[in-house]
Amino acid sequence: MPGDKSRNERPPFTSREAFRYRKLAGEIERRITGGIYQPGEKLPSIRRLHQQTSLSISTVYQAYVELENTGVVEARPKSGYYVRPVSLQKLEAPVFSKKSSAPQRVSLAPAINSVVEAISNPRFVPLGNTAMDPALLPVKPLARILKSLSHSEMRTLLTYSPSEGFPELRRQIALRTVGVLEGIAPEDIIITNGCMEAVALSLLAVTQPGDTVAIEAPTNFSFLQLLKELGLLVVEIATDPREGVDLEELEKSLSTSTIRACLFMPNFHNPLGALMPEGKKQALMELLSAHGVPVIEDNISSPLYFGEQRPKPLKAYDRDNLVLTCSSFSKTLAPGLRLGWTIPGSRFSPKIKRLKAGITISTSTLDQYLVSRFLESGAYERHLRVLRTALKKQLFRTALEIQKHFPTQTRLAVPQGGSLLWIQLPPAVDGLAVYQAAFDRNIAIIPGVVCSNSKIFTNYIQIGCAAPFSHKIKEAVEILGSIVSGSL
Ligand SMILES: Cc1ncc(COP(=O)(O)O)c(C=O)c1O
Repeated sequence: MPGDKSRNERPPFTSREAFRYRKLAGEIERRITGGIYQPGEKLPSIRRLHQQTSLSISTVYQAYVELENTGVVEARPKSGYYVRPVSLQKLEAPVFSKKSSAPQRVSLAPAINSVVEAISNPRFVPLGNTAMDPALLPVKPLARILKSLSHSEMRTLLTYSPSEGFPELRRQIALRTVGVLEGIAPEDIIITNGCMEAVALSLLAVTQPGDTVAIEAPTNFSFLQLLKELGLLVVEIATDPREGVDLEELEKSLSTSTIRACLFMPNFHNPLGALMPEGKKQALMELLSAHGVPVIEDNISSPLYFGEQRPKPLKAYDRDNLVLTCSSFSKTLAPGLRLGWTIPGSRFSPKIKRLKAGITISTSTLDQYLVSRFLESGAYERHLRVLRTALKKQLFRTALEIQKHFPTQTRLAVPQGGSLLWIQLPPAVDGLAVYQAAFDRNIAIIPGVVCSNSKIFTNYIQIGCAAPFSHKIKEAVEILGSIVSGSL
């Protein structure tokens, strides 16, 4: 079967079978990353694994297809499956320097406008995008829902929705907190225009202009734009590329500066891809409770996990009602719908409701209806399963190409979810110059300098893997590799 042209055509597996092949794929992958199977080594045959595990031949085969799709193993015709000779094990994570900043005004990197322009230019190879490629979006079922609308339904949908959101959408979102958050009712959720409005309302609810907010270094550059517009100061807290914000550094800043709020991304951080371990989330909440400081958490990428379990939001460890959880469907469904939400908790909910009503009145009724019908149908969970596998594959394939074409001192940590790669280039390389040379070749990437207020990440770039891996992307990564090597 290895090398069979039809191998990527997935047979219709039941959810129990799918669970079994994913579990087996996970076990084999752990043996590879744990070094039990070495790069280039032949893996047990399908027949042997079938006998050893008593799983069916097709389940074992599908486990290998899954691993092949994510670039962990390769099939050699008439020979079997092998651990990829170029293994990501050789890549080291970016160096983590424990350096935090004092409170500062926000000043944006001059390159920011050009970066935003490059990301949204459809002629560019999209290696800067965090928004999913439309090829990965469930276009057909969404179009079917819109086509099925009667005139009388349409009439209702052209009116304002309640300010806090369309009741059915709030109910569908509340249902999806089961398993990661306890006791969330539809009334606890406030619908917003994307995650950015959720974050903006949360910042307005907990700060005044001139206050200081603790942010991660690096951070999502859109947050820097927002914080500047709101007249807030920032303290940058050193953030580990694998495990998120550093608690010792945060504690130091909490005791030396008056911090009114934190704005963090514990689940698949942008741009690092870091996933904060659950124990660390709990410790972070204990620290913030001790100081009585609220935290706005951006949880937008948590459904994009590659492991077995969806990571929990900080809110799961919130005993004192200090967490305002913000999210949206922009990374999983459609950024253009501008549909997000916040779960602010009882302490901040009244203020957020007032701000929402006072600033944007409500969110598009038609878009809320469309998404709630899609969620109701159960198609979202199927879509997410396919999306996660696609992202994992895109991310691994891109990381393998980076390893092949970038100088050996390049460092990156392949994240456990999301779609972003944060790349540390050799110290002599200027990430902004790489960005400019790539821009001239119609390739969009994000230079690290725009991701922090103190502009310390000069030899870093961020690559987004939100488009299906293709020959064009492969070529673009090769060009980037030669630009980086040429700058040494
Ligand atoms: C971490 C993070 N938060 C928020 C946003 C913006 O979300 P939305 O489009 O829902 O406003 C993005 C967009 O890329 C993001 O990466």
